Amino acid sequence: MRTLTIRQPDDWHVHLRDDAYLAATTQDVSRYFARAIIMPNLVPPVLTRLDATRYRDRILSQVPEHRSFNPLMTLYLTDQTSAETIKDAANSGIIHACKLYPAGATTHSDAGVNAIEGLYPVFEEMQKHDLRLAVHGEVTDASVDIFDREKIFIEQYLEPLVQQFPDLKIIFEHITTTEAVDFVKASTHNIGATITAHHLLYNRNDMLVGSIKPTLYCLPVLKRDRHQQALIKAATSGDPSFFLGTDSAPHPVSAKENACGCAAGCYTMHAAIELYAEAFANNNGLHALEGFASCYGADFYGLPRNTGTIKLIETEWVCPSKMRFGESDLVPLRAGEAVHWQVVNNSSESS
Ligand code: NCD
Ligand code: ZN
Repeated sequence: MRTLTIRQPDDWHVHLRDDAYLAATTQDVSRYFARAIIMPNLVPPVLTRLDATRYRDRILSQVPEHRSFNPLMTLYLTDQTSAETIKDAANSGIIHACKLYPAGATTHSDAGVNAIEGLYPVFEEMQKHDLRLAVHGEVTDASVDIFDREKIFIEQYLEPLVQQFPDLKIIFEHITTTEAVDFVKASTHNIGATITAHHLLYNRNDMLVGSIKPTLYCLPVLKRDRHQQALIKAATSGDPSFFLGTDSAPHPVSAKENACGCAAGCYTMHAAIELYAEAFANNNGLHALEGFASCYGADFYGLPRNTGTIKLIETEWVCPSKMRFGESDLVPLRAGEAVHWQVVNNSSESS
C-alpha cells in the first residue's frame, strides 16, 4: 500500500454556491484545503467589494469550528464593471481575482461579458493593482462547435488580450485541450492554468458511450482522449504554470437529471485530492502532485505556501450514491463507485 505526505493543498477554482447549499460545500472544501478561490457566479453575481465581503462572511460562518479555512474572493466582471470597482476590490485585501465569463458560456454566466474589448480599461486597472484575471475560455458563438470553443477562444480573445496586457496575470481556467496546454507553455510566467480532476480522469467517451452520464457533464465539456493525455502530461510535468483547480460545481439532482436538460457542473469536493491522487498515480506522476496541488497556485497568486501537511494512503472506499445538498440531494462524481486514495491525516486540523 502506497502512502504520500504532501504540503497542505489549496483549491484555485471552486463553486461553493450560497444560502442553504453553503453548509455542505463549506464542510467539504475545508476538510483539508487551506484556501480556495471562490467563484462569484451566484444569482445575482458577486459584483462589488461589499458583495464579496458579505459572501465571505456567509462562507466563514459555515466553517466547522475546529478547522481553519480562508476563502479567497473574486468579483464577477460584467460589461458595466468600472475601474473604480476594481480599485476598491484591490484595496480590500480579500479579493484576489476577477472572473471573466463570456456571456452565456456556462452556468450562471448570463450577466457575463458581451464585448471583451470594452473591458480593456478594467484590465488596465487590474494590471496596475496586480489583481489576477481568471478566464472561462470558451467562445459563445452559436455557429462554433462546442468541442472547438476553447481553441477558438485562444485565437480570438486570449492571444490579443495577452499582447495588450503583458503584465496582467491571467489564469486560463479549467483547461481541456492540447491547444490550451500549448498556449500556456508558450506564454510567459504571467499565464497560468487550472486543471480539474475530472478532466484528468475522463474523456468524452466516458460521458457519452452507452448512456449519457449527467455527473460527468460540465463546461468546458470533456474532450477526446488525445486532449486528456495532454492535460495529464501537463499536470504531472512539474511545470509551475499548471495547478489545481477542482471546478467542483454542485447542482441538485433535479437540475442534473431533468427532462429539459442537464445542468453543467461536476461535484468533486467530497473526494477532491483523492481523485487527483488517483489520476497522478495512474500515470506515474505521484511525485508531481505536491507541486501541482500545494505550491504552484500559491506562487502564482503571490501568496505563501501552506505549512501543514496531509497524508494520503492508497486504499479503496466507495463514494456515497447521494449526498444531502440543502433541501435537495446531490449525486457526486463517482457516486456508488470506488475511489482509490484516502486522506488519513491532516496536520492543520485540531480535533
Ligand atoms: C460551473 C457552475 O456550475 O457554476 N459549471 C461547470 O460546468 N463548470 C461554471 C463554470 O465553471 O463553468
Ligand atoms: Zn467553474
